[in-house]
Amino acid sequence: MCFPHFGKTALEATNNFILSLTLKEKAELVAGSDGPCGGSIAPIPRLGFGGLCLSDSPLGVRDTDFVTMFSAGITTGATFDKSLIRKRAVLMAEEFRAKGVHIALGPVAGPIGRSVRGGRNWEGFGADPYLAAVGCRETIAGFNSVGVQTTIKHWIGNEQETMRNPIISNSGTTTDGEIVQQAISSNIDDRTMHEVYMWPFAEGIRAGASHVMCSYQRLNETYSCENAESLSGLLKGELGFQGAVISDWLATHSGIPSIKAGLDLNMPGGKLSPYFANVTDWQDADTYPSIDPSFNEWKSKSSVSTWFPPVPPGLELQWKMGAPAYRDVRKDHGKFVRTLGAAGSVLLKDTGVLPLKKVSNIFVAGNDAADLSRGQVGTDVSDSQGPEFGANAQPGGSGTGRFSTFVSPLEAIKARMGSGLTQYILDNKVIAGQNIDSVFPAPEVCLVFVKSYQTEAADRLSLSFDWNGTAVINTVADACNNTIVITHSGGANLMEWADHPNITAIIAAHLPGQEIGKSIVDILWGDINPSGRLPYTIAYRESDYNAPIVNLTNVTDKNAWQANFAEHLLTDYRHFDVRNITPRYEFGFGLSYTNFSLGPVFVSKTHREERSAFANSAPTSPGGNPGLYEQLATVRAAVYNTGKVGGAAVPQLYLSFPPNSPEGTPLRVLRGFDKTRELAPGKCEDVRFILTRKDMSYWDVIASDWHLPNGSFTVNLGFSSRDLVASNKISFR
Ligand code: NOJ
Repeated sequence: MCFPHFGKTALEATNNFILSLTLKEKAELVAGSDGPCGGSIAPIPRLGFGGLCLSDSPLGVRDTDFVTMFSAGITTGATFDKSLIRKRAVLMAEEFRAKGVHIALGPVAGPIGRSVRGGRNWEGFGADPYLAAVGCRETIAGFNSVGVQTTIKHWIGNEQETMRNPIISNSGTTTDGEIVQQAISSNIDDRTMHEVYMWPFAEGIRAGASHVMCSYQRLNETYSCENAESLSGLLKGELGFQGAVISDWLATHSGIPSIKAGLDLNMPGGKLSPYFANVTDWQDADTYPSIDPSFNEWKSKSSVSTWFPPVPPGLELQWKMGAPAYRDVRKDHGKFVRTLGAAGSVLLKDTGVLPLKKVSNIFVAGNDAADLSRGQVGTDVSDSQGPEFGANAQPGGSGTGRFSTFVSPLEAIKARMGSGLTQYILDNKVIAGQNIDSVFPAPEVCLVFVKSYQTEAADRLSLSFDWNGTAVINTVADACNNTIVITHSGGANLMEWADHPNITAIIAAHLPGQEIGKSIVDILWGDINPSGRLPYTIAYRESDYNAPIVNLTNVTDKNAWQANFAEHLLTDYRHFDVRNITPRYEFGFGLSYTNFSLGPVFVSKTHREERSAFANSAPTSPGGNPGLYEQLATVRAAVYNTGKVGGAAVPQLYLSFPPNSPEGTPLRVLRGFDKTRELAPGKCEDVRFILTRKDMSYWDVIASDWHLPNGSFTVNLGFSSRDLVASNKISFR
């Protein structure tokens, strides 16, 4: 049997398939079952349907072997490089496919990073809807090009981990217990919903996302997976989503009401979640690779099997599991991860010491420089700081996977130093105890590696570095006048020590993936000139951030957990800009080993005629009214490398809406970015940005539509959200 996936033939084939199903078979297709994968749809052997395999994670195939662990979403966002984002997706998709996974559980469009302590902010591309949207679009397009389905998640308002699920009496599921405390409710107004939280989903759906995962928490007091207004109204109605809505694992709390609201597929199904199931696409049974049996074997060994057991012996063929097992699907993807990890590293401070030149004696400090110490799995670590020893290449939870290869910073530095002297102390307790006298003779350079663990199911306990990282930095900096700090973290940390005179450079290297050591060596020694940019703001004080995590104690009111998104559109830099708070390092910031300048900004309109306030109504297609994506303006400018070495620049476009726009409109919003090619000294490149009607409209809550305002827009171009060096004006009426 061979079903092409797209076009009329696929639809016809699907309809024929559905006509041949019994009622029981139909019901089984719309819920997960026991099976080999993180999520499994049972086979129907009499029709030759081999079931479907759904698997995390957004950074590589989870729960298996011989796969590549790519850089996390936040690292990928920090590259500000569309082609790298796309290529990462293509290579990841190749691995999902070669392992026999039909539906990948990613990318992450939310959390977007409303709260700086959000435990999962690192899974997405950054704290701005436009950046997140580009990340999702490029990722989904990349997966589609390989024929692997995606699941854009978590719809919607999933901005904190604390109390993301209800508390249920007895055993913990709503099928055999009662809700005694409702999950957090994200209370989001109409305009914020459209301009911030829906924006990346709209772009992902437009790019062809086949699935959307509804989230754990409540939206405006109704569980996300049974919220009709959001699932049937906003998602399937307004955004024209034509694929299937999948529940997050155990996020379904009802049967018929959830189905009526718009939920299509209940996960994980099985005995803990026996609500129901909806036919999704299925892949071409003849050419799609079989499911690697090692998924099933790993599941039999691991604790996840208590949720949804593996396939019992004898049924492997029905599932189209097949040889070879332990399939090595990595090819040479590690080389790309090395580049990606370096491209997502952000140089925050450099007094001129980087790149390193001839170093014959180097000191490496900190447990984050070490190799893995608790096995290949980045997850399932119960303490809040993660493993003590081991570089933080990926944090914890379902957004991670198992390393097949890992190159620690220390290993890569030793290799780079060759016969030079590499001294090191990895135990933070020793360093924080100021016991570093064993370092002798005095090194020319001291590299301090610190980390900040983040994980699903918990929000961050602080913005400091784990394992006494601040004391480690201070001890080394007090003793060594050329101290370079490298941080491995999925979000913002406080850096009280940043102005220490002996700290000569700081690199926020994010979560680079399996080649963590090689990526940082490439940056330190200048084989790659840093071009990463911050996809969030680093503040001076935690109190400078808005929208803290809601965390209640001793609550008796069943409905007490409410997160009012009262900051509205002012997430991350927009809040700092409007409140005039100086950040330590702003959104979009990052240094290079060279310097860049920008020529004048040219703005031209696509149409001579005035543009109406609203797009003409048209049949909705995936992403919403196609008229919203009409191009209204082109912005051009030349970027010059004015420094002494080659490097790539990241010009960014921030749009200011006309002064008469409704109250609450941010001062500026990101509406374009690009990464130039590597420019030799003295060379330049013309960059071009397209502004669409949606880019230049606000959500009009009275008209319930995107409204292109009267008056003059300012198009600001620069190298960060605060370094705006040139601008021009444009108006449409
Ligand atoms: C829960 C997580 O929220 C989701 O992102 C993940 O895909 C599922 N578990 C399956 O592991």
